Amino acid sequence: MDKRLILLLVGVAVWLSGNASGQRDHPRKWGSGEPHPIKYVEEQKTAYWVEKAQETLHAKLAETQAAHTNAAKNVIMFLGDGMSVHTVTATRNLLGDSAEKVYFEQFPYTGLSKTYCVNRQVADSACTATAYLGGVKGNYGTIGINANVARYSCDGAAMEENQVESIAQWAQEAGKDAGLVTTARVTHASPAGVYAHIADRNWENDWEVTNRQCNTEQTPDIARQLVEGQVGKALKVILGGGRQQFINTTVNDEEGYPGYRTDGRHLIKDWLADKQAANASANYVWSRKGLSLVDLDKTEYLLGLFATSHLPYDGDRARNRSQLADPSLTELTEAAIRVLQRNEKGFFLFVEGARIDMAHHDTYARRSLEDTAEFARAVQKAREMTSDEDTLIVVTADHAHTMSINGYPYRDQEIFGLTDDDTDDDLPYAILSYANGPGYKSAFNLADGRARLTEKLTDKTDFQFPSMVPLDAESHGGDDVAVYASGPFSQFFSGNYEQTNIPAMMARAAGIGPYGNIQP
Ligand SMILES: *[C@@H]1O[C@H](CO)[C@@H](O)[C@H](O)[C@H]1NC(C)=O
Ligand SMILES: *[C@@H]1O[C@H](CO)[C@@H](O)[C@H](O)[C@H]1NC(C)=O
Ligand SMILES: *[C@@H]1O[C@H](CO)[C@@H](O)[C@H](O)[C@H]1NC(C)=O
Ligand SMILES: [Zn+2]
Repeated sequence: MDKRLILLLVGVAVWLSGNASGQRDHPRKWGSGEPHPIKYVEEQKTAYWVEKAQETLHAKLAETQAAHTNAAKNVIMFLGDGMSVHTVTATRNLLGDSAEKVYFEQFPYTGLSKTYCVNRQVADSACTATAYLGGVKGNYGTIGINANVARYSCDGAAMEENQVESIAQWAQEAGKDAGLVTTARVTHASPAGVYAHIADRNWENDWEVTNRQCNTEQTPDIARQLVEGQVGKALKVILGGGRQQFINTTVNDEEGYPGYRTDGRHLIKDWLADKQAANASANYVWSRKGLSLVDLDKTEYLLGLFATSHLPYDGDRARNRSQLADPSLTELTEAAIRVLQRNEKGFFLFVEGARIDMAHHDTYARRSLEDTAEFARAVQKAREMTSDEDTLIVVTADHAHTMSINGYPYRDQEIFGLTDDDTDDDLPYAILSYANGPGYKSAFNLADGRARLTEKLTDKTDFQFPSMVPLDAESHGGDDVAVYASGPFSQFFSGNYEQTNIPAMMARAAGIGPYGNIQP
């Protein structure tokens, strides 16, 4: 090769690598000891902080005068699964200087909810779903039933006195429509709280039920409860993943994945047949394209199952062209509201950002924050499509996670970077870390103690952030989670209260169900 060409190539390579690091938002390397530039120059002025306080006071004074006592015609509950306060704060950093903020942080009222379940200090998504949708705490792993029923008990969930009604049922009984949207399987624990009563969250199909020596007639699986149960059957919108739970092992879905059922049922066909028998206009879709072809203004019932299991992480969806075949949470939320908005009596919609939690379990902090950012965009879409005069929006989480934001990173450092305040072993550490989980492997090098991390490593999408205790799946956290509210009776949501108060307050705002008429 020509020498000049080689020199040119080397030059380009050097320029490219320099340029790549030059694009970094945080030029400072830990331990460099260089004086550090201030990122937000305006913050150096007293006036900046004074003006901010004045703006906040103006907003608070206007808010105090606003009554917010119209009945809520519509209620939309947004559930960020595992969206701890740390997760929201770190997402704020991820969105950084962009115009995009964590939208729901602007809501006028915020509070804290206590997430423990009856038999565990740290809860799961099943018992918390019973709490924030039905207003009763149950046992870990159970859904839509009180704590009289032990997990895996075959008969307890079938007894009516143990069943907990959800706010979706109260809405339906008041003539409103109800629907659900999730990025998980529609039979996963959180959405199941809308319509199911079951002693184990894993009983999503008949095989799981028989595998535990329970009878599928006494204990219908979660997918069957969605298609045949009183609340599930009447849901106008069901959007998420989980086709595998609806079809037999001998049947493949539209993308060639076999089902998990062994009872020969094809619950998607059954769902359609049921609606057609009632002469209702019903549509089943399984792709983003299919959804785009539905006339939402004429559809009465909409079932969308966009994946054999869960939908992809939002960051992966956005990075991966082949996954753009999947709809985003914002698109799903928009479609759901368009269908539900036609009921003059209003609606209840449950929207779950499910994979915030799943990414945390793998200590994929970046993916978790990306999913939180998309969740916030979905909230914004919902607020823009509705009026805060008649639509209450409540945003919260079911439980926390063990991720924390550590050290004293500089303001211009990316949240995925490292910090270095005088560790005993002279090694830097990640700003984000977990109390337990698979990130143990990246944090510790068994021979030498802590591993030497670099930002080249921590910047990778699938870097598993360090954890203290080796666990295959990082655990949930037991700290309180935040609640953000906007619209009628949003003032109810300030304070620190039981998670079970949330559906009661939403129901009172809408004037539905057993709490609808509570007077002072
Ligand atoms: C459903 O799958 C089971 C095995 O998982 C099989 O025995 C059964 O024949 C299948 N049912 C139908 C209707 O294909
Ligand atoms: C559906 O429409 C058919 C034909 O118009 C009618 O015979 C049938 O009674 C209708 N069923 C229901 C449940 O309304
Ligand atoms: C992109 O998505 C496809 C389909 O889900 C998947 O098979 C593939 O591994 C993904 N590629 C990357 C780089 O994530
Ligand atoms: Zn979880």
